[in-house]
Amino acid sequence: MAPAKILAQNPDMGYVCQANRAFLGRAVGWCLARGIDQFLDLGSGVPTVGNVHEIALARRPDTRVAYVDFEPVAVAHARELIEGLHGVTVTRADMRGPDHVLAAPGVHDLLDLTRPVALLTVAVLHFVPDPALPAILARYREALAPGSVHVITHGSADHDDPELAARTRAIQDGYRGSATEVVLRSRPEIAALLGSHGPVAPGMVDIVDRPESDPGARPTGGYAAVATMS
Ligand SMILES: C[S@@+](CC[C@H](N)C(=O)[O-])C[C@H]1O[C@@H](n2cnc3c(N)ncnc32)[C@H](O)[C@@H]1O
Repeated sequence: MAPAKILAQNPDMGYVCQANRAFLGRAVGWCLARGIDQFLDLGSGVPTVGNVHEIALARRPDTRVAYVDFEPVAVAHARELIEGLHGVTVTRADMRGPDHVLAAPGVHDLLDLTRPVALLTVAVLHFVPDPALPAILARYREALAPGSVHVITHGSADHDDPELAARTRAIQDGYRGSATEVVLRSRPEIAALLGSHGPVAPGMVDIVDRPESDPGARPTGGYAAVATMS
């Protein structure tokens, strides 16, 4: 979630966060329906409503969820929430170091990488300006078994509608000067973050233009995509 101060300055941000969380919940359900019961959630954030492990454990008690975030407060909150739960870990790490993340006990000892994993990169990649990001994500995918899935959402100002682009830039402005500045990638740049794995239908579309979304939902300016790895 966005910090409270940024939410207060830009009420649109709350709408985008909610739409993002709703998409995350549906994506987790989609993965479970495909038999995927392991989740590697990079940039998992401060726990809120509809956390990945809550959705997943309610449907599959044997689910494994490895949360990763580099922000101490997010990790502390998550640690408190998951205490005593079997099959759920939180690791404090920078997702830009895939080998370090994959070797961390909370990931390495929990996930069975010989079986499919859902790699969740939801509302995190626009906080990672690193030009090496496509290679970083490729490294994660390389480590995962065939049948794994990569879920992505990413803010963008690359829209035909200038008003929508302006709204997204206003959100970006809200983060300026904070510890986490936002980088708004173009649509092709976001597509490139999936490597050669084309997204499943309906492709890379606004977070709300997806199956099971509210048909009247106003666009968020963020793109969402789900890619499968064969
Ligand atoms: C907006 S929250 C998204 C939380 C959750 N994924 C969701 O969709 O609601 C973004 C999170 O990404 C984390 N983050 C940003 N850059 C990161 C990095 N390089 N490594 C790990 N976590 C990162 C932040 O600390 C923050 O908790």
